[in-house]
Amino acid sequence: MDMRWKAGLAIGAGALLCAGGAVLAQGDELRQTAAALFGAIPDPPTEVRGVAVTPERVELGRMLFFEPRLSRSHVISCNTCHSVGTGGADNVPVSIGHGWQRGPRNSPTVFNAVFNAAQFWDGRAADLAEQAKGPVQASVEMNNTPERVVETLASIPQYVERFRAAFPDDADPVGFDNVALALEAFETTLVTPGARFDRYIAGDEGALDATEREGLRLFVESGCGSCHNGPNFGGRTYFPFGVIERPGAEILPEDDKGRFAVTQTASDEYVFRAAPLRNVELTAPYFHSGQVWDLEQAVAIMGSSQLGRELADAEAAAIAAFLRTLTGRTPEVAYPVLPPSTAATPRPE
Ligand code: HEC
Ligand code: HEC
Repeated sequence: MDMRWKAGLAIGAGALLCAGGAVLAQGDELRQTAAALFGAIPDPPTEVRGVAVTPERVELGRMLFFEPRLSRSHVISCNTCHSVGTGGADNVPVSIGHGWQRGPRNSPTVFNAVFNAAQFWDGRAADLAEQAKGPVQASVEMNNTPERVVETLASIPQYVERFRAAFPDDADPVGFDNVALALEAFETTLVTPGARFDRYIAGDEGALDATEREGLRLFVESGCGSCHNGPNFGGRTYFPFGVIERPGAEILPEDDKGRFAVTQTASDEYVFRAAPLRNVELTAPYFHSGQVWDLEQAVAIMGSSQLGRELADAEAAAIAAFLRTLTGRTPEVAYPVLPPSTAATPRPE
């Protein structure tokens, strides 16, 4: 066992006070444990890394999020693969990018991503600004270059104005770093409060029915919450996919070794970030390979692969029912009106 995640598991189990197999009662004790281990979705952050999230940055970021001219083809935007109308994801096994190429992984939701400790299935980007530079340049995604993106935006006077307003202290505000910062500012607004689970831990016992509460109890007692914790139910720490038993190659493709590609450390082979589970009912198909469509099946796979526990069908169904209570209010995002290209705007390729 690798010590880092073993320690993580022990801490998780300790926090539950069920390391010795103690069984949680229903009612207040379950609710208090859930409130401590997970917590409600916080308000959108008002600053990131000490810099205020201003309305001008959010507004520019919203335009850029829907801006297909960030892609070389002028047809792919962030919203193509992270549609704000479909849970912040694309609902296909692996994303389709430039020239209909299939990428290697399923697209995670952008909703509540600001609460993750690091971005991507393998956590290779520290924050949303660092993350946003990736897809623009990835050949299987938007296949563009920072220079071409800046040339495009600088050729459109309305964008130049927007960058000036969003970055008033910069001498040369239309830059690739600022594209990323604006996208990050917009993404901080994509949070989904008000899930039934959040109402339940706030004291509304009736917000979950008996099956859902049983699912929560199973989620906590069987150890799912040791890895999937915090307000996002995950997104904080890394674990092998297959702690106890590696799933088959159709679900865990052999050529994607996860965090190993980031750290080059043998113990990080097939290690991935514990997936955040907020709004999980909206983001099928599941796992980084996107090969499992059914939430009950995903839960059962987790039972055997991560916990060495064959969940009965009724148990997996109760846990899945509980996970569906993590669906919050989808942010209402108005589709922006985008300014027209000019003669100086690079043409689509
Ligand atoms: C072609 C589809 C595609 C496009 C276009 C795309 N993404 Fe993604 N996005 C993905 C995939 C796939 C991943 C996961 C990749 C990985 O983990 O290696 C991802 C990961 C992310 C994540 C990490 C979420 C998490 O929980 O770790 C964020 C945030 C994100 N994208 C935002 C954006 C933004 C902003 C843009 C536009 C600049 C964008 N994406 C464009 C497919 C896409
Ligand atoms: C040892 C840590 C660990 C434990 C215990 C664990 N998980 Fe996971 N879970 C993960 C990791 C890591 C992933 C990402 C797997 C991948 O690479 O696709 C994941 C992914 C998932 C997904 C897929 C989410 C998505 O968006 O694709 C679901 C659903 C899930 N877990 C539910 C559960 C449930 C329910 C339990 C308890 C029965 C559980 N997990 C136990 C670490 C864990």
